[in-house]
Amino acid sequence: MAFPNPQHPPHAILIAYPTLGHVIPSVHLAIKLASCGFVITFVNTQSIHHQTSKAASNSSHHKDDLFAAVRDSGLDIRYTTVSDGLPVAFDRSLHHEEFMQSLLHVFSAHVEELVAKIVKESVPPVTCLIADTFFVWPSMIAKKFDLLHVSFWTEPALVFSLYYHMDLLRKNGHFACQDTRKDSVDYIPGVKAIHPKDMMSYLQEKDISTVCHQIIFKAFKEIRSADFVLCNSIQELEPHTISALQAHVPFFAVGPIFPSGFIKSTVPTSLWLESDCTQWLDSKPHASVLYISFGSTVHVAKSDLLEIANGLLLTHVNFLWVLRPDVVSSEDQHPLPDGFEEAVRGRGMIIPWCSQIEVLTHPAIGGFLSHCGWNSTLESIWSEVPLLCFPLLTDQFTNRKLVVDDWRIGINLGDPCGMISKEEVSKNINRLMDEKSGAEFKSAVREMKKILENALMTNGSSVKNMEYFVRDLKTKIF
Ligand code: UDX
Repeated sequence: MAFPNPQHPPHAILIAYPTLGHVIPSVHLAIKLASCGFVITFVNTQSIHHQTSKAASNSSHHKDDLFAAVRDSGLDIRYTTVSDGLPVAFDRSLHHEEFMQSLLHVFSAHVEELVAKIVKESVPPVTCLIADTFFVWPSMIAKKFDLLHVSFWTEPALVFSLYYHMDLLRKNGHFACQDTRKDSVDYIPGVKAIHPKDMMSYLQEKDISTVCHQIIFKAFKEIRSADFVLCNSIQELEPHTISALQAHVPFFAVGPIFPSGFIKSTVPTSLWLESDCTQWLDSKPHASVLYISFGSTVHVAKSDLLEIANGLLLTHVNFLWVLRPDVVSSEDQHPLPDGFEEAVRGRGMIIPWCSQIEVLTHPAIGGFLSHCGWNSTLESIWSEVPLLCFPLLTDQFTNRKLVVDDWRIGINLGDPCGMISKEEVSKNINRLMDEKSGAEFKSAVREMKKILENALMTNGSSVKNMEYFVRDLKTKIF
């Protein structure tokens, strides 16, 4: 690291994990930090860059510089890309295993080369590396270039804590214990008893030899040498878990990390062309539409998709359904039952992608059938929309527990075992969307929105935590 000068602003290289659910909060973290006086060099993979600029090609956004619009407002955010080790045209959704292998074994060499170049050429000098917690190399690279290592955790603190204390789960026989242990995990510091089925899928699965497991094991070894952890959660949402973590790591809850004003971002982050649903939504009564989306990455089993579609047919509820082109698989482009679209004409709209923030804040939306990705969960709370939960992978099972069991701002789509049938689907859709039976969830989510709003007020916890982080970081640099 060049000799730090207190006159210089801190300069961070921020490397986003290359899946959309991580890129989106990373983009908004970059803007937040730049607003606090940081110079940011934002690094996207070439593959994500290619997809977002292709999806934005019909809009007015500048294709080669995703932050162009933001920079016009005076923020110093530079933008560059790096190879993840695979050709840009490689289908990462279809060949997920190869993609993960490349992130585990090949990506770090490309990152190292790029960081060396940025460090050599940049003014002001680079002072820290901000990298997603799921990367397996940040502390090694930070050490090599004498940079502070800031880890960015995009999921709830509860999820971080369970991974962080994996050794305790192993010791007590709750690790990789899918369907074999029914007793609760009640010994993780700051975590009230949690049932094993509510832990992340990677902690439950019996086969721990997968590439995702290797990434998690390595990443949570790495995290022990991070100088700071920034988390997209809110102190008041998870007070005990966050306090307990702070005894182990310098952990700062600075969420929710949203686009300023919670309006459609000026940084184009969509991977697919967005459909404009405003007119259609305008034609629907207040709180009458169920919004359905399973995020940007996970796949849904065709059999489950059919139960959901057939369940919708049993209701009279209006719905707006985002069906990504690869939602079942990029090889199955027509996963809905024959005749479905005709049968729901007028009350159902099916689109490949949208601006979720614009949709969720539309007054016609009354519920969100979600896979419980953490971004979707926070966005739903902010929009005061209760959730119908259908978790599929990773942290989504744990997020579901927070939403349904702890915060009571939603209900499950399936039965208590997570199985879904068309009858169960239609029963639960009606329960959430009905004015009377859905009222308790609406009022609970309104209360929760206030917690998020307060955290972002001048003296709110997330604003204060960000100030403490900047203060402590500067103390370490200068
Ligand atoms: C992934 C993981 O699956 C999730 O569990 C983890 O918490 C974060 O990383 P993803 O599955 O994409 O994320 O879900 P989610 O976290 O909900 O993020 C999806 C993002 O895409 C949201 O910010 C949402 O606003 C956006 N989106 C989704 C759109 O802009 N348009 C859409 O049509 C659908």
